[in-house]
Amino acid sequence: MSAEAVAPAPGAAGALAPHVVADPDHIVVRGLHKTYPGTSVAALSDVELVVPRGTFVSLIGPSGCGKSTLLRAVAGLEGFDDGSITIFGATPEEACTAKSVGLVPQAPALLPWLTVRQNVELPHKVNRRADRRRAERERKHPVPSSPGLDAFADVDSLLDMVNLTDAADKHPGALSGGMQQRVAIARAFGLRPEILLMDEPFSALDEFTREALRLQLLTLWQRMRTTVLFVTHSVREAVTLSDQVVVMSARPGQVHEVIDVDLPRPRGADVLLSPQLHTIEDRVRASLQGAWEAGAAPVDLVAG
Ligand SMILES: Nc1ncnc2c1ncn2[C@@H]1O[C@H](COP(=O)(O)OP(=O)(O)O)[C@@H](O)[C@H]1O
Ligand SMILES: [Mg+2]
Repeated sequence: MSAEAVAPAPGAAGALAPHVVADPDHIVVRGLHKTYPGTSVAALSDVELVVPRGTFVSLIGPSGCGKSTLLRAVAGLEGFDDGSITIFGATPEEACTAKSVGLVPQAPALLPWLTVRQNVELPHKVNRRADRRRAERERKHPVPSSPGLDAFADVDSLLDMVNLTDAADKHPGALSGGMQQRVAIARAFGLRPEILLMDEPFSALDEFTREALRLQLLTLWQRMRTTVLFVTHSVREAVTLSDQVVVMSARPGQVHEVIDVDLPRPRGADVLLSPQLHTIEDRVRASLQGAWEAGAAPVDLVAG
């Protein structure tokens, strides 16, 4: 799966079930249940989640607790057995068709024969209709104005914001892993999706590169205020980036606890080194321990 807007599933169904309330300001997951064919334990069981428009929410939990399954279900790429998902009042399939969902996977999935600039430009070139739909959407739900926002449709500005101006004419093979992931992030934000789903996008990178990318992601998000659902194994990453951290327990996957991260933004060095941040990290770790005890599943979280 590439980082551009998610392609609609062929033959995707449309309408909301009659009992599902269309909430225009939240992503709402209710009673979600999913068991993969041929498996005996549910991947997701009775998952409840409400994500307000414009917030940054992280999902954290033991490996196998259903984070990717949940993300794919929200993206309209994975069916489920019971429950409902609405994205600002639309079904995942409708959101998918409207190109309002972007996905950044673990591996950046760039096209190796195109340059950095061409990779970032590509979704615009192949998808002019998505640009029109986005313009309509932004008329209904204006994004907060801030310096630099208008420049986002401009590929040069995007490349500048992820510090890739000098690498614009290089091919992905000539870039480090961190640079490649920056290209993928620029590409995803450049489409201005309504929601951006990020599945452990930094997990293959070293800690130093991750730290730098977190800061760049924060800067981009601060300007765009796209609603982000971000899967991570890192407590530090979840707390640094998010408004809320959703701790999941495993087997079957459920939401164990939602922890508010009421730290000021922008999150500069003063915030990132503050005792409050460490207190929240400790709360997340304690919650993960509780989730582990509840699910008795192996925890493979990184300490950072
Ligand atoms: N395509 C699949 N077929 C069968 N089981 C799957 C499939 N994808 C995931 N699972 C199982 O569902 C559970 C949740 O997986 P996943 O969503 O990938 O978890 P996470 O992203 O939290 O590591 C795991 O037990 C996994 O083995
Ligand atoms: Mg996963």
